[in-house]
Amino acid sequence: MKFFIDTADTAEIRDMAEVGLLDGVTTNPSLVMKSGRDFLEVIQEICELVDGPVSAEVTALDADQMVVEGLKLAKLADNVVVKLPLTWDGLKACRRLVSDGVQTNVTLCFSANQGLLAAKAGATYVSPFIGRLDDLGVDGMELIHDLRAIYDNYGYETEILAASIRSAAHVQDCAIAGADVATVPPAVLKGLVKHQLTDKGLEAFMADWAKTGQSIL
Ligand code: G3P
Repeated sequence: MKFFIDTADTAEIRDMAEVGLLDGVTTNPSLVMKSGRDFLEVIQEICELVDGPVSAEVTALDADQMVVEGLKLAKLADNVVVKLPLTWDGLKACRRLVSDGVQTNVTLCFSANQGLLAAKAGATYVSPFIGRLDDLGVDGMELIHDLRAIYDNYGYETEILAASIRSAAHVQDCAIAGADVATVPPAVLKGLVKHQLTDKGLEAFMADWAKTGQSIL
């Protein structure tokens, strides 16, 4: 499973890129607002920091304008993926951009039927939102399982980019369900390394090592 980071904060992206774990980045208008940065400038900077796909979202609501915005975003760098909402206009724009050779990420997917439409529109990625379904008392992970089954049934190449991930358990369950990508907030991604037995074990090793009076260097 690929790891994308869900942020527009370039300091966090740099930190993650250094560990070599980062396969791509996703942003959305709320994350851009949170960064306080100029949208086009921050996307360009992120694209220079990572080789993998960087999702940048259109803000127009009608297909023609989405295509115009999408083409402008795609020109910023070779690794830009144009993010479009899962609406009728978003699907139309997706089909047109894909025909022009632009990579797309159809976002705000909350049902298997929506995901089926995104695949049929030729989306490069579809973004099902797990946490926001969980918030409503619906098991968001079921959507990942359903999409995996549907895409495999018909050989759709659209990648399942699990989004709205809130916990380490979400990440693990996405990998078990066969999501192609999980886009994870920086804090959750860093938290994956944590285990109390790792900390406890390391503490014991260090205490015993000190007792040997030796040093490697
Ligand atoms: O990129 C969209 C997404 O991951 C949103 O997450 O936590 O705002 O539902 P959240």
